[in-house]
Amino acid sequence: MKALILAGGSGTRLRPLTHTASKQLVPIANKPILFYGLEAIAECGITEVGIVVGHTAVEVKAAVGDGSNFGLKVTYLPQDAPRGLAHAVLIAREFLGDEDFVMYLGDNFLVGGVSDIVQGFIERDASTAARILLARVPDPRKFGVAEIAGDGSVLRLVEKPDNPPSDLALVGVYLFDHHIHEAVADIEPSARGELEITDAISWLIEHGFGVNSSMVDGYWKDLGDPEALLEGNRIALMAIRPLIMGEVIDSQVDGPVLIEAGARIVDSIIRGPAVIGRDASLQSCYVGPFSAIGDRCSISASEVVNSIILSDSIVDDVGAIEGSVIGKFATICHRNERPRATKLVVGDHARVELL
Ligand code: DAU
Repeated sequence: MKALILAGGSGTRLRPLTHTASKQLVPIANKPILFYGLEAIAECGITEVGIVVGHTAVEVKAAVGDGSNFGLKVTYLPQDAPRGLAHAVLIAREFLGDEDFVMYLGDNFLVGGVSDIVQGFIERDASTAARILLARVPDPRKFGVAEIAGDGSVLRLVEKPDNPPSDLALVGVYLFDHHIHEAVADIEPSARGELEITDAISWLIEHGFGVNSSMVDGYWKDLGDPEALLEGNRIALMAIRPLIMGEVIDSQVDGPVLIEAGARIVDSIIRGPAVIGRDASLQSCYVGPFSAIGDRCSISASEVVNSIILSDSIVDDVGAIEGSVIGKFATICHRNERPRATKLVVGDHARVELL
């Protein structure tokens, strides 16, 4: 069994964070989303992993390397443009050979791993060529949607339908045997110009192959937009191992808080769950529940709650920040000069809500 992880694509819904950076490397609880997937794959005992990369290949390679930090052997598979999830399988043909594989979307966050469904696929009956994972969602129109029989076998799949046949969304983890290669080679691009994996799976069903499903039993989220990212961050923070490795001076630390080495907390209150990155500096501030402060950030005379601040950013004397996602090397500070107007240098596609 091999794994194919998708870390290409364009990440439009996470702009401006993803203008230059890979969306799969945006951190929740200070760890890139992609790393949770790699850990889940390693936990299954799979070692050979292909990572599909697009225009952010350099950054993904720098973060993951040869995979040895995860106990994996990684092969990078460049995709010239985001031509669809089935196109990713198409370009991985040589890497995958005829082995069974798990395909894992690099922006999906699953709590509880995938060992059980991988094991279930290994023990399948001979007629089964694919297994998908499903979750009930309030608005299925944003996902691939499945119609299933009482025994869990899949009858029909549609990608982002206006009139969903059920509330069962496709989770970004799929198991395939070699028949999927025939399917991805035979389908045509969809109306949005992509080779859809839902069409390839439908091809399997139409050609008499068994496709079955199981419901995801833990938490799952496609971390495709800032609200989802903040929710994923909250869930990931609830699982952190509290540990203080940095320096805490005249400060109060309550609840589960991870303070990385080199961080310095002075005259502040931190209420967990929260994580403070390596070499961060906090002075006279309040960091409230569900906050992830990145490496080398400097926060002073401010309050931060339920927010993600990426590495190397500065927040100084700005009152309270809530439900916010702040990119790398950003500065948010108080303006003392006249005119007493808000002064902004904001990236494309950013969103700023003023009081
Ligand atoms: O998250 C689950 C959903 O993922 C499923 O319900 C849908 O059926 C499935 O099509 C997919 O929908 P998305 O619109 O969320 O897919 P997205 O374009 O965000 O791509 C998913 C991941 O795959 C993301 O990490 C980027 C990567 N990707 C995407 C494309 C289109 C690639 O590496 N190459 C590609 O060509």
